[in-house]
Amino acid sequence: MDVKDRLDQLRQEVDYHLYRYHVLDSPVISDAEYDALYRELLALEEARPELVTPDSPTQRAGATPSDVFAKVRHPAPILSLMNAFDAEGLRAWRARLGRLLPADTHLQYVVEPKLDGLTVVLTYRDGRFVQGATRGDGEVGEDVTANLRTLRGVPKRIPVDPRSDVQPPAYLAVRGEVFLPLDKFEALNAERLAAGAPLYMNPRNTAAGSLRQLDPAKTAERPLRLYCYDVVAIDGGDLPARQWERLAYLRQLGFPVSPDNRHCANLDEVVTVYEEWIERRNRINYEVDGVVVKVDDRVLAEELGYSGKDPRGALAMKFPAREKTTTLLDLQVNVGRTGVLAPNAVLEPVEIGGTTVSRATLHNFDEIARKDIRIGDRVLVKRAGDVIPYIVGPIVDARNGDERPIALPAVCPACGQPVLQLPDEVGLYCENAACPAQLIRRVEYFVSRGAMDIDGFGTQTASLLFEKGLIHDVADIYALRREDLLELEGFKDKKVDNLLAGIAASKERPVARLLTALGIRFVGSVVAGVLVDSLGSLDAIAAADAETLQAIDGIGPRTAVSVAAWFANEGNRALIEKLRAAGLSLAAERQPPAVSSAQLAGKSFVITGTLPTLSRDEASALIVEHGGKVSGSVGKKTSYVLAGESAGSKLAKAQELGVAVIDEAALLAMIQGD
Ligand code: IVH
Repeated sequence: MDVKDRLDQLRQEVDYHLYRYHVLDSPVISDAEYDALYRELLALEEARPELVTPDSPTQRAGATPSDVFAKVRHPAPILSLMNAFDAEGLRAWRARLGRLLPADTHLQYVVEPKLDGLTVVLTYRDGRFVQGATRGDGEVGEDVTANLRTLRGVPKRIPVDPRSDVQPPAYLAVRGEVFLPLDKFEALNAERLAAGAPLYMNPRNTAAGSLRQLDPAKTAERPLRLYCYDVVAIDGGDLPARQWERLAYLRQLGFPVSPDNRHCANLDEVVTVYEEWIERRNRINYEVDGVVVKVDDRVLAEELGYSGKDPRGALAMKFPAREKTTTLLDLQVNVGRTGVLAPNAVLEPVEIGGTTVSRATLHNFDEIARKDIRIGDRVLVKRAGDVIPYIVGPIVDARNGDERPIALPAVCPACGQPVLQLPDEVGLYCENAACPAQLIRRVEYFVSRGAMDIDGFGTQTASLLFEKGLIHDVADIYALRREDLLELEGFKDKKVDNLLAGIAASKERPVARLLTALGIRFVGSVVAGVLVDSLGSLDAIAAADAETLQAIDGIGPRTAVSVAAWFANEGNRALIEKLRAAGLSLAAERQPPAVSSAQLAGKSFVITGTLPTLSRDEASALIVEHGGKVSGSVGKKTSYVLAGESAGSKLAKAQELGVAVIDEAALLAMIQGD
């Protein structure tokens, strides 16, 4: 293919993806893949400037605004930015600027998070909000004033602080980014999952869709947020010359400005901030796809002019991609301990953000059907923070006809019994209480670290013991005999001794551990602790009806129903009797958790992430031992969130509510009374 044809092809593709992204809010390739196409186009055009056409997507920003909304001409072009992908790209940018500047010019910078939302332009006349628009193609956007009015972050009047002596300019156009916080996005999708509605792809598209509603009441239902970062046009008022001061000015006028913006005295500081962000982006409650580096001196930045459509005085430094496309090779169905059939994707291995991904979750079969995912499809895979990689969707346009639709399994892949779809649940279930896969999963869970914590009992042991017919339920673990174990492949004296010692030791675990280990839906270690503290024994819990359970502080209706149903089941009651007969203690030691000090009295903690030395249960026990309380969810009354590696939404929630966040060292220091 000659250069001209390739250019044509690239332009067509880029235009198409811009349209999918900006107009349909439904991209079919990852941002990184889009960037790669765009970069190729840019590089070819740079090499052959005579082939640049005026309608090339490099010559304008965004996509044509849709016809649904009235059109708004922006007071100045709403531009986009040049991208860099690492520190080297940043230094190359600075070097390019160096060629346009006197040799000894020292530049300072402002580094702002690059929010992954959508750009809006807010217009004020005499301090009143009169118009709000989307970016559109950069020249003309869509009038979404009524929708933007519903956002709490959009000041309806400036200044909002009557004590402020800053006078509102006669005319002001401000640029900002509208976005949907991650926890809100997840909550929205959880609601939709429960309601059987199709899931949203990502927060950005959800935010865009929410803002471009015909009915502002719909927009109002979405907890959209806004951060502002630029003045597009101004008449009257004192616009500061430095970006850092402009941000302060915007804040004074009552606009929300990101608290994460940083001033950097030199390029090395910019690199440091960028690198910190790569890690930090996993811990904040909104999506950031890079940082924007701006020359602090905006007058100088202006003088630097443009390269194509991009201003030279700013640079978008993208983060390593967390989304890639790859091929869906096969589907593997796992049976969980509750019997739910979990479809997992087997993928052609693809590197995402430093790890090779070859498996991803497909959530459930409803999602597969709704997204029409087929074996052989190119699929978009996302790996964000500490969540299991998941498939965002298929790339329908990449199909060649060889793809195979995925049929709903009629029978359980493990036991061959028919599967069931419960009326108000999306999942498929294997209802066979004797299903080997479920039993093995239950045993694995029973012996795991957070539950009965049986040393020497691995995942493979569970399968092996089951296959050999040595266990049929978790209580059988306590009837295992030395001579039987010695017959198993790879089980020598020492290994068997260790295993039997581990099993014996587990009989002494507190009853809350046992309750956790039973794997009742919604009963994790915190809920188990609450139940045992309140009712004292498994027998008392088994005897309580849902109403009694729900009356306990910390037990919700869902959990109450689940617990009552579990203990109402005859098989489960028999299991409890078997455990009792094996000599496990089913009642709490009557002296409630030994309190060895009151250093933490009156303090409540939420634990999240992986701590450097303590397991979560150990940390939890330590807190209780020193008079503190541990709860499962962050609220206004939470005193501290104890956060470790890969902390997720709880940390974000703490930051949102302003709850103090501490690490393990700080906890230990508190206990020691430092
Ligand atoms: S500055 C000429 N600052 O990232 C000024 N952009 O290509 C250009 N974005 O679509 C924009 N956060 O919507 C700037 N703090 C920030 C930003 C930001 C997000 C978006 C913007 C634009 C893209 C840059």
